[in-house]
Formats: sequence, structure tokens, C-alpha cells
Amino acid sequence: MLGEILDGRRISADIRQELGRRVAALVGQGITPTLAGILAGDDAGSANYVRLKEKAAVEVGLRAEMLRLPADCTQPELLARVDDLNRRTDVHGVFVQLPLPSHLNEDLVLASVAPEKDVDGFHPMSVGRSWLGQDAFVPATPAGILEMLRRSGHGDLRHRHVVIVNTDNLVGKPLAALLTRPGIGANVTLCHAETPDIARFTRQADILVVAVNRPRFITADMVKEGVIAVDFGSNYIDDPAAPQGRRLVGDIDFEAVRAKASAITPVPGGAGPMTVTMLLAHTVLAAERQSHAL
Ligand code: GUN
Repeated sequence: MLGEILDGRRISADIRQELGRRVAALVGQGITPTLAGILAGDDAGSANYVRLKEKAAVEVGLRAEMLRLPADCTQPELLARVDDLNRRTDVHGVFVQLPLPSHLNEDLVLASVAPEKDVDGFHPMSVGRSWLGQDAFVPATPAGILEMLRRSGHGDLRHRHVVIVNTDNLVGKPLAALLTRPGIGANVTLCHAETPDIARFTRQADILVVAVNRPRFITADMVKEGVIAVDFGSNYIDDPAAPQGRRLVGDIDFEAVRAKASAITPVPGGAGPMTVTMLLAHTVLAAERQSHAL
């Protein structure tokens, strides 16, 4: 078996086209959907990510407003900025880029975003509603995985076993909340990357989702025939043949696992591009909802 490659760039492009049409309809009603983000500090990775979100938003016709605050900004200053964005009727989606500088209280900051504008799905209200099976924004990463599976014909997850190697608040837990909703009905195992003999879990997976940032963490002997493998890893490895002497790879030994898989996401170009796309989708939805509430 040589697994189908799940092309996140192509699926993202399709979704972004659809979003463009919805944005045009809103603009026709006099509403320009607006995504506001706050970046505190000068972490290069975060700054890069925020630029990516800004560029993608503008490309689908959203207005993007990115506030860049100094690394020594105070908690009251940051909360005041969020409060201002919450109150503005011309701003529909708000996110605060993580991680925050260590003197800031992440929990309090995330809880300060108005739930109706919480396009990242990190507010405790969004998290709780999601686990209860109620309507809520969910984090873009798990939303992107599900959308990608649906759009590539693998969306029927009822009774299937999804093994997730990641237990954090951005990927593992919110994905488990989504997959266990009655309408989806998957069986879910959440694993910690450090678990001894983790292969006893990963070998059971009909769908294996991995986000541990360790190159070749999942090898072919750790999966069963026919698995659908979703890779969220992002690792640079040395490669003298690559343009800058290094190359981006995921957490899954791609070629070897592909030989056993029915479908697999590549890195780059697989699950990653879906994340930013889902943030845009959530912003358009937030604007549609807020315009109906007017
Ligand atoms: N840091 C890493 N991923 C994310 C994300 O999806 N949203 C925010 N706000 N920060 C992040």
C-alpha cells in the first residue's frame, strides 16, 4: 500500500476561495470582517506566525489589525488592549499570540477575550462548551485536522480509534473534545510522548495524530496497515543537499509509514496550512454571527 497524500495546501486553497465569497457577501452588507491579534514581546517564531496570519487574512479579504507590544508590557496594559478590542464593533475576531512573556499570566489573558470573538477557542468558556458538545469556537489545529479528513473523504470517524500523541491545550485535548461529540463518535486515546513502549498504543490507531516535535518519532513498525497518519511535527534537520543545509520534517518517518498507510499528511504542506485557514474561517463565522446579532 502507498498511502494517499493529504494535501493541506490544496484543501486550504479551496476553503480560502469559499471564505473569499463569504467575505465579499459581508462587505456587500457594509461589514469588513476584521481579525485583531496581539503579539507581546519579540519571540521570532511568534512574530513570524503573526505575520503569516496577517498575510493570509488580507489575502481572503479580511482586515487584519496586529498590535505589537513590547516584551516588558504589563498585565494591565495587555488586558486594557484586549478590552478595547472586545468593545469595538468593527473587530470580529481577537487572538493573543502564545507563548506570552513569562511575567504575564496566560490564563487571565486568555479568559479576558470576549467568547464571541474568541476565534482561537482558548477561552475557558469555549473549552468548556466544546467538551459539553455545545457550539463554541475550537482551536484552529484540531478544527483543521477534522476539516481536512472530511474534505478528503475520511470524515466518517464513528467507532474508529483515533490515537493522539499530544495532551496539550492546543492540540490533544481540544481534538479529543471534538472527536467524542455524539455526532462524530470516535474512540479516542490521548498519549503522552514520554510513555514507555508508546507503540502499544500507536499500533491500535485507525487514525494516528502526532504533535511532539521530534523527528522520526513514529516509525513504520509503530503503525498498523491502513492507518491514516496526521503529522503536526515541525522539526529542522541537517541536510547538506537542502538549500540552507537544513530541511523541515515532521514527527513521522514519512516514506516508511506511507508504505503502510492508507493516507498521510506530508510536512511541510499537510496539516500545518490548515491551521491558519481555520483561524480565518472562524473570523468569518464570528463576523457573520455578529452581523446577524446587530
Ligand atoms: N501559539 C502557537 N499556536 C498558536 C495558536 O494557534 N494561537 C495562538 N494565539 N498562539 C499560538
